[in-house]
This record gives sequence, C-alpha cells and structure tokens, in this order.
Amino acid sequence: MQIFPSFRLSQALLTGLLLIALSACSPEASNTDGQVAANTASAANASSRSRMPSDPALKSLYIQSCYGCHSAGAAGAPRSGNRKQWAPRLQKGLEELLANTKSGINSMPPSGMCVNCSDDDFRALILFLAGEAE
Ligand code: HEC
Repeated sequence: MQIFPSFRLSQALLTGLLLIALSACSPEASNTDGQVAANTASAANASSRSRMPSDPALKSLYIQSCYGCHSAGAAGAPRSGNRKQWAPRLQKGLEELLANTKSGINSMPPSGMCVNCSDDDFRALILFLAGEAE
C-alpha cells in the first residue's frame, strides 16, 4: 500500500519531465526558431531598403538608378549594405566591379541605368552598396 502512492508520484514526475523534454524539441519550438530567423532576415531587408548615401548628390543618383534593384534584391541583385552578399563581389576588386557596372553583368543593365554617373560616382555607389561606405 505504501509503494503505490510513491509509484504514482514518480510516474507523475516522469511524465512531467517527458513533457518538458518533448516540448523542447516539438515542431512548435523549431517554428519559433524559424520565426526568429525570418524576423532577423526581414530586419536586414528593411535596413537595405532604408539605407541611403549621406552625400545628397550621390543619394539622388542612387535613388534614380541603383535603388530599384539593390534595395530589394530584385533579379538576384546583391542587397544594399548586405556584407555577406557583397563579400565575394568585393574580392574581384573595385576596378573590376566598376567595369562590370559600366558594361552590365547578367541581369544588371549597363551602367545600372545611370546615364549621369561618372566613374567616381560609380565607385562611391559600389562602396556604398557593399556596405564599405555610408
Ligand atoms: C535593373 C536592376 C539593377 C539596377 C538598376 C542596378 N543593378 Fe547592380 N546588379 C543587378 C543585378 C541583378 C546584379 C547581379 C548580377 C549577377 O552577378 O548576376 C547586380 C550586380 C551589381 C554589382 C556586382 C558586379 C559584380 O561584378 O559582381 C555591382 C558593383 C552593381 N550591381 C552596382 C550597381 C550600381 C552602382 C547601380 C546604380 C548605378 C546598380 N548596380 C543598378 C541589378 C541592378
């Protein structure tokens, strides 16, 4: 008679522990992780959209041309300020990125649709896009 209540108690404890263990790796828990990752990604995307060059002249060139694709990552464009996406591009060196910007590359049109940009404007815009300058 005395064994029975203590058996019930330990079974209850065990069930409780099992429930805690199960909930720790339930799909609900991993959904929360996925949600955190998605929130982090959308925060990064939001900052790509709101980033602007501090120089007013550069800012207007940026808005007229690069912004449309590089703020939202349209057609696979590396996003503004996303250092992870820009790291492999930067390895090509600034002068090659300038040449590719002027000639166009894959789905990016020549000059990134900026007819008024000088080489120095392009260099500054590229560094801005790559997160190397504000
Ligand atoms: C119509 C959309 C569009 C516009 C406008 C645009 N880009 Fe791009 N850009 C892209 C896409 C797409 C890529 C990725 C091309 C690829 O590597 O496949 C890209 C890639 C680049 C690269 C990387 C090139 C390389 O060699 O890896 C640079 C630098 C760049 N853009 C600069 C600019 C600048 C500066 C402007 C504004 C003057 C601009 N882009 C405007 C779509 C655009």
